[in-house]
Amino acid sequence: MTQATNQSWGGRFSEPTDAFVAAFTASIAFDKRLYHHDIRGSIAHATMLARVGVLTDAERDQIVTGLGEIEAEIERDEIEWSVALEDIHMNIEARLTDKIGVTGKKLHTGRSRNDQIATDIRLYLRDEIDAVAAELARLRHGLIELAEREAATIMPGFTHLQTAQPVTFGHHLLAWQEMLARDHERLLDCRKRVNVLPLGAAALAGTTYPIDRHVTAELLGFDRPAENSLDAVSDRDFAIEFTAFASILLMHLSRMSEEMVLWASAQFDFVDLPDRFCTGSSIMPQKKNPDVPELVRGKTGRVYGHLMSLLTLMKSQPLAYNKDNQEDKEPLFDTLDTVKGCLRAFADMAPALKSKPESMFEAARRGFSTATDLADYLVRAGVAFRDAHEIVGKAVAFGIEQGRDLSEMTLAELTQFSDAIGDDVFEVLTLEGSVAARNHIGGTAPDQVRAAASRARDALNALKEPNHVA
Ligand code: ARG
Repeated sequence: MTQATNQSWGGRFSEPTDAFVAAFTASIAFDKRLYHHDIRGSIAHATMLARVGVLTDAERDQIVTGLGEIEAEIERDEIEWSVALEDIHMNIEARLTDKIGVTGKKLHTGRSRNDQIATDIRLYLRDEIDAVAAELARLRHGLIELAEREAATIMPGFTHLQTAQPVTFGHHLLAWQEMLARDHERLLDCRKRVNVLPLGAAALAGTTYPIDRHVTAELLGFDRPAENSLDAVSDRDFAIEFTAFASILLMHLSRMSEEMVLWASAQFDFVDLPDRFCTGSSIMPQKKNPDVPELVRGKTGRVYGHLMSLLTLMKSQPLAYNKDNQEDKEPLFDTLDTVKGCLRAFADMAPALKSKPESMFEAARRGFSTATDLADYLVRAGVAFRDAHEIVGKAVAFGIEQGRDLSEMTLAELTQFSDAIGDDVFEVLTLEGSVAARNHIGGTAPDQVRAAASRARDALNALKEPNHVA
């Protein structure tokens, strides 16, 4: 009795795959998003095979034309994806064979789905990395511009979420920018390890055909062929690295989100988030909720989850390819979708933040934020720092009792705590004097913020555009 078995590998099978097992093991539902990169990889492979004489030029041309038509069919949504054909590779190959006959069956010469999928994901991820890098750059540019506009806007700086010392809003924004600059570096560094060609590793051991992997690497814009065939088909470090980058980035975005949510509250009232980034409440007519930053804060968790999934997926896997690896795609794809969405929202929203300078200033003024400046003043007048700390502590306690800031006390009131205080003390007790005095690289003085913004812009502009074959 003959039963139909799988057309790609059914030769040694005596019964067809169980229908549930076929659906359970198929990846077409999610790997179809790799179609463009799968076709690009196949075109490069066929081109290389013709160059080394394994295919004729006529066969290559038939394959290349057929694949081009299939890509157009996919884009017009005319392809019916088949679960029986398991994955994107076999769906495309079967369609090619329908179209061009036996030559279509030659495309898979000298390769395996193991090196093919590893190549597809790298090609796909490389393009996505470039899109992520562009959004990251857009967000960084927006923050730098906003920081320049807000270089002299005074707000309270916090430790333990308690008012600590006055800072400038521009300085705070540039702190965010620094986090993103490190993320950007991590991303571009990860890209180097993504950009290595697995194709040619075949199933695991390489192939007996006289392939030229340098040709394929060059056609696809990879820096070099992977060194070791066993490693090439099994390595998923690059996906883990990207997801680690994404986790750190989302952690940073969650911190910025948290601050935006706090600042937009009536209790802080430091910023206004434009209405287009907020939503209302169906029951409380007065509400304007900062949904975008809240959602970005929330999405951080799923990206951390994907990092754990991928690390655990690879844990203890023996060489070389294992079907486990098919589970790499959904976490990676969802990480990409999440990161791109969050960055887009942030790049649109962050530069549109409207500061409320009076209310920021008032908050800084209320919090005895120039207490350290008074202590430093006393040290300059010859008082030991510990004694100065004690003196200022007493002055603050007096201020709390009186409901007045240090700068609102009279000279006579201040001198009861120390006779080292003179009438020049008021210069250091003002918020403007306090921030302007922190005038060194990395400090919060408005001039330093402007200089730092300009250095940040230069560094961002100096990042080389990654170049590869489109
Ligand atoms: N769908 C598979 C994956 O995503 C492609 C490689 C399959 N290779 C195999 N020998 N079954 O990993």
